[in-house]
Amino acid sequence: MDYKFNILMVSSEMTPFAKTGGLGDVVGALPKALKNRGHNIAVVLPKYSFIDTGEYDIRPLNHPMCVHMGNKEEWCSVHQTFVDGVPVYFIEQNDYFDREGLYHDKKMNDYSDNPRRFAFLCSAALQFCIDKNFSPHIVHANDWQTALLPAYLKIGNWYNTVFEHTASVLTIHNLAFQGVYSAANYNYTGLGLENFTLDKFEYYGAMNYLKGGIYFADMVNTVSPTYAREISTHDLGNGLDIALRAKGDRFWGILNGVDYDIWSPEYDRYIPAHYSVDYMDGKIECKRKLQQIFNLREDPFVPILGVVGRFSSQKGYHLLAQIFEEMINSMHVQFVILGTGDKELENFYNQMSYKYGSRVGAYIGFSEELAHLIEAGSDFFIMPSIFEPCGLNQIYSLRYGTIPIVRATGGLNDTVENYNEYTGEGTGFKFWEPTPYSLYYTIGWAVSTYYDRPYHMEKLVKNAMNQRFSWDMSAEEYEYAYVRALT
Ligand code: ADP
Ligand code: GLC
Repeated sequence: MDYKFNILMVSSEMTPFAKTGGLGDVVGALPKALKNRGHNIAVVLPKYSFIDTGEYDIRPLNHPMCVHMGNKEEWCSVHQTFVDGVPVYFIEQNDYFDREGLYHDKKMNDYSDNPRRFAFLCSAALQFCIDKNFSPHIVHANDWQTALLPAYLKIGNWYNTVFEHTASVLTIHNLAFQGVYSAANYNYTGLGLENFTLDKFEYYGAMNYLKGGIYFADMVNTVSPTYAREISTHDLGNGLDIALRAKGDRFWGILNGVDYDIWSPEYDRYIPAHYSVDYMDGKIECKRKLQQIFNLREDPFVPILGVVGRFSSQKGYHLLAQIFEEMINSMHVQFVILGTGDKELENFYNQMSYKYGSRVGAYIGFSEELAHLIEAGSDFFIMPSIFEPCGLNQIYSLRYGTIPIVRATGGLNDTVENYNEYTGEGTGFKFWEPTPYSLYYTIGWAVSTYYDRPYHMEKLVKNAMNQRFSWDMSAEEYEYAYVRALT
């Protein structure tokens, strides 16, 4: 495409600075891919106090900056660094971002001022464009946290030419989080009561950031074609299917990519040995290390089932919990899990690792290093999601020759090709019914393939490792979305 755009991407997460899940990975990678395609892109993030300014060479830039929240003036400062040549600007406002977590405290209680924190981020990002005289063709918002941007662009009184030709794109990474808050917070946004209506921000008497964002955005996308279809239906639309359908051909799915500089067994900086599709010895070493770290019995021949993810109802780990002991008692496997979130699930998997010691390992917490090691050292990777907008771990698994076992929903359906027992084709194992026994039998199918059809296992691993979901391809699709937004 010949167009070269000025793009302002705004997000609440970006790897390596702040990440709770895939949003961080996406915003860490997509801007780089867009830059490599010739676009002029800048990213705006909150300056959370846990971000190490020294480590990332983050320096003060524009101090101070006045942001208008309705009639109220609030102050912040802006800091800057570069990641792979992409400028990243941090909004420092300590009342809002000097917190131990991104969205909630250690006890998982949401910060009550979240609607204000992220409304401020949106307004500050636009103010920054004015102060810097940066005129974006596209303002790219991500999820509810930045969903006020399209509205601010359309109804803000900027009295400024920098936004004269600006269109907005809103990417929905997860429709389950919409930013629904008491209407008492609405006044702070400064968006005016005329927009607190049923078609825009009003939602059963409360305000809904994502709903308003969908209405005002020039283009909306989500992160896989299947999830785009799913959430356009009444059953899976989380109350916003009407708003999404109303966008018509201004709403579609663009599959996420993978940053293969970070997630490749050839270069991964966290794993003890490297390997590739033609030279797999390193995988055996990774498996050994994984068994050591999780205190499992060292055995290269037993398949390891790996899990990494947020313990939330979305991910389906409660299905796994229901068949867990039956699986461990009936199949010759080892199991490792890394995750945090729901306390019941945390306790359950911890207990299982005590009970089954040398066969089950659990780490409750967040560890980038262990996430990479599990991808590399496991034989299978389980994602029994109830819904999954895209999912990145199954795509990472493919690249590491760690065969995904997934429920065929959203992006899991789009990225994993089911194993064909007759030909050996495919890249993983799929099931459809969101029930514990569908999962149980699919794990059984995978494990019996491992033991009984090793030649097919080898073929699956090769097929999987040869798959590519590059960001360059997805970035090209975002270019089409930008053109659609601008026309
Ligand atoms: P989601 O965004 O819904 O959490 P994705 O599959 O898109 O799911 O992305 C999850 C990302 O977060 C992956 O990079 C995964 O490795 C990482 N992740 C999730 N939980 C943990 C954890 N406990 N420790 C380390 N990384 C984690
Ligand atoms: C969300 C989704 C996940 C997706 C990620 C990045 O957190 O739950 O499926 O991969 O965003 O788009």
